[in-house]
Amino acid sequence: MKSTTSILAPNQSSLSNTQESPKRILLDKNELSEDVNSWLKLKVLDKLMDAEWNRYPENTLQAIESKVAEYAKLQASQVALGPGSASIIANLLNYFAIQQKHIVIVQPTYALFEVHCRNYQIPFTPWMLKNELEFDFEQTPQLDRNSVLFLTSPNNPVGNTIDLETLENLLQRFPETLIVLDNVYYEFSDTDFSPLLNQYSNLLIIRSFSKAFPVASVRLGYICGSENNLGWIKNLRLNYSLNSFSLAVASEILFDPTFQKESLCRVSDIIRQRELLTARIMAYFETNEIEVFRSQGNFILIKVNSELHQEIQNKLHKCHILVLDASKFPKLNDCIRISIGNSEECDAVMNVLLSVTDLKRKNTQAQNSSLLCASSLN
Ligand SMILES: Cc1ncc(COP(=O)(O)O)c(C=O)c1O
Repeated sequence: MKSTTSILAPNQSSLSNTQESPKRILLDKNELSEDVNSWLKLKVLDKLMDAEWNRYPENTLQAIESKVAEYAKLQASQVALGPGSASIIANLLNYFAIQQKHIVIVQPTYALFEVHCRNYQIPFTPWMLKNELEFDFEQTPQLDRNSVLFLTSPNNPVGNTIDLETLENLLQRFPETLIVLDNVYYEFSDTDFSPLLNQYSNLLIIRSFSKAFPVASVRLGYICGSENNLGWIKNLRLNYSLNSFSLAVASEILFDPTFQKESLCRVSDIIRQRELLTARIMAYFETNEIEVFRSQGNFILIKVNSELHQEIQNKLHKCHILVLDASKFPKLNDCIRISIGNSEECDAVMNVLLSVTDLKRKNTQAQNSSLLCASSLN
């Protein structure tokens, strides 16, 4: 039997756990680097302390949806809230599969689409991006009244976008096809597609509060569309699927003017950092070393020389910087997606890229000069 003292005395492994672990830089999930202020968290906690946890969540959904609609510049009847946009996407895929719709999904895109279809054995037709990683409008797939097209713009993990005119053109060319636009990085982009919803009943737009607002853990997303479409979409939503925590955050802080203003300021900052990092990568590296793709999300995608790929991954790992290795996506061999953090975090990434490529350049130079020496001796 263990003595009390041995139980109370810290052992070696728990001692080593108490040593401060190095701070990780989390740039792998397109989250925000800054957390919600403590005083705002307390406001939510107060609300939750007053709530009766033995009861189903209070019926505040409609009131919150009105605020979401106001934020999205739409009517309340055009918006439905869900527990994260991922869950909205999964519900739609299941629904369309049961309806035996012909599901077309742009690839590469947000991994959930493929993973969910694989898990639930939902057949879909991939619509591949061009080799330059842009949408391929010359190779539009067969779309008819039984089809549903899932399009992500800004597209994750690439960052490419569709413009308003092109989307409108697709909506007009295929009026009987439902086009579902995953638009969760909307706040980081320069296009608002929501005015199209008033004209085209074959369009649905999915958005999220996880990206532009520091509340990814709260799980809040929403879908926008015509009142008719919203009718059946709301019917698919399980009763009480939005829990009290999500609802409390939405009612207490999400639409607080100061919180909104600060969040949208942070978005502007991230856009600035994204453009700066893109410009620095373009300036410092040859495209055969590191190529960066233009992005309108809160992340960038880089394609690195295959000889550098592993070294960059190792160095990032050594510096405790987490990023997404996008190599497993189709067409994205040797690609890495980096979420845009604050300026220090972007500097840390840039330093890793510089140190690995500098070393490679020096090695190549040394190799070249020794080859030159050898050939002059011959
Ligand atoms: C394109 C895209 N859609 C949807 C989501 C899911 O977002 P959430 O479920 O947090 O709203 C993500 C998350 O990274 C994403 O990148």
